Amino acid sequence: MTPTSEEQPPQAARAGSGREIRSPRGMRDVLPAEIPAWERLEGAARGLARRFGYAEIRPCLLEETELFIRSVGEVTDIVEKEMFTLSKGETSLALRPEGTAGIVRAYLQAGLARSAPLQKLFTIGPMFRYERPQKGRERMFTQYDCEALGSLDPRLDAEIVHLAASFFVELGLTGLEVRLNSMGDGPDRDRYRAAVREFVRPTLPERCELCRARFERNVLRVLDCKTSLCVELNAAAPKLLDFLDEGNRQHFDTACALLRDVGLEVAVDPGIVRGLDYYTRTVFEVHYPALGARSALCGGGRYDHLVRDLGGPDLGAVGFAVGFTGTLLVLEELGLARDLRLPAADVYVVAADRACAREVFRAVSVLRAAGLSAVFDTEGRSVKAQFKAANAGGHPVCVVIGPDELERGAAQVKDMRAGSQREVPRAELAAAVRAVLGG
Ligand code: HAM
Repeated sequence: MTPTSEEQPPQAARAGSGREIRSPRGMRDVLPAEIPAWERLEGAARGLARRFGYAEIRPCLLEETELFIRSVGEVTDIVEKEMFTLSKGETSLALRPEGTAGIVRAYLQAGLARSAPLQKLFTIGPMFRYERPQKGRERMFTQYDCEALGSLDPRLDAEIVHLAASFFVELGLTGLEVRLNSMGDGPDRDRYRAAVREFVRPTLPERCELCRARFERNVLRVLDCKTSLCVELNAAAPKLLDFLDEGNRQHFDTACALLRDVGLEVAVDPGIVRGLDYYTRTVFEVHYPALGARSALCGGGRYDHLVRDLGGPDLGAVGFAVGFTGTLLVLEELGLARDLRLPAADVYVVAADRACAREVFRAVSVLRAAGLSAVFDTEGRSVKAQFKAANAGGHPVCVVIGPDELERGAAQVKDMRAGSQREVPRAELAAAVRAVLGG
């Protein structure tokens, strides 16, 4: 007798010592039941990328650690605290904590910056950050990352924000806020940095240890500190928008106007500072405020000097990354994941007698070769239990082969939705199943 679920002890992989081996903290498996929701996200992401003209790229998961130090910035949470690094020989490698740096590295390595500078690229894949796991935050998480490299045109800023927002619209998510800011560039950023320094200096004794350390090395990072007292102090910080020079102000206003032209509601939020160093001018985040402190589902912006800083020509670029973890939480919260299911196989083939097992295997193979999905019992179930499984599995067609059918070279084809059944020659089985599915 099969034990009931109550009798079954929870199972776990075990080491020789008997110790449980679990997935690393903050990292989880995506189980089959979750795949329909993941496919929904991936399908929306790919469909939109095609509509907006972004081609897929699949960069390496591991990069030289130096790449992230140079791009994300030495004095950032990601580089200071969150990278998973490993050493092989002389080289220090890091599991990518984000996608932009690797895409720019690949773009340069493939010679695209010279031969075809404008490249609109996207990737979907896992990123790794050693953060404290909590709701919406994992150590291995998936991002949908889109990057438009090789142009300074503000229409690309607008396109990137529009693409990010469209992803959530496509999924049916409501209650989101798109928040934009400008980080400036060049002299206006320098003036701003000086003003922030003057603002922070007198508050230093009250600030957290990390902010005190960052004051000298990278004062702008003090503004994205998550410690509650620092957050409070930062509310009165100078706003970069007040320091923008004419060119950067015009660029920002144009991007905002273009977005309003296409009906996208955006809020200018001077508090968006982003936690990575490469940003210039337009930056943005998409928030789902009900998620609380970590409500950003997407972040991005311009990074006009990164290609140059990594050894390429001085070209503009803009991009974003959506996190799947938060997006899936919201999908769940809004009840939009409830009806997503894996599709059942087209056909369940029943062996009405043990003697037919071999013929059932052959029939399943013929159906599969014809492009249909077909399953059968491999657990020695009774005929009754096989019918029960065929019903419970939601298969639209059930094929039955018993001793009589075996002898006649036939099979019973049952339309599970209509409840009707007819006998067909086994040589015509695939066509008969197709007729039921199409009918
Ligand atoms: P980011 O703001 O660090 O930007 O990450 C983008 C999104 O990834 C976040 O809004 C969040 O939804 C998700 N995310 C980040 N860390 C985690 C985590 N530990 N667990 C779950 N989700 C997380 C970037 O990564 C930039 N590379 C975006 C970009 C692309 N900028 C220009 N191009």
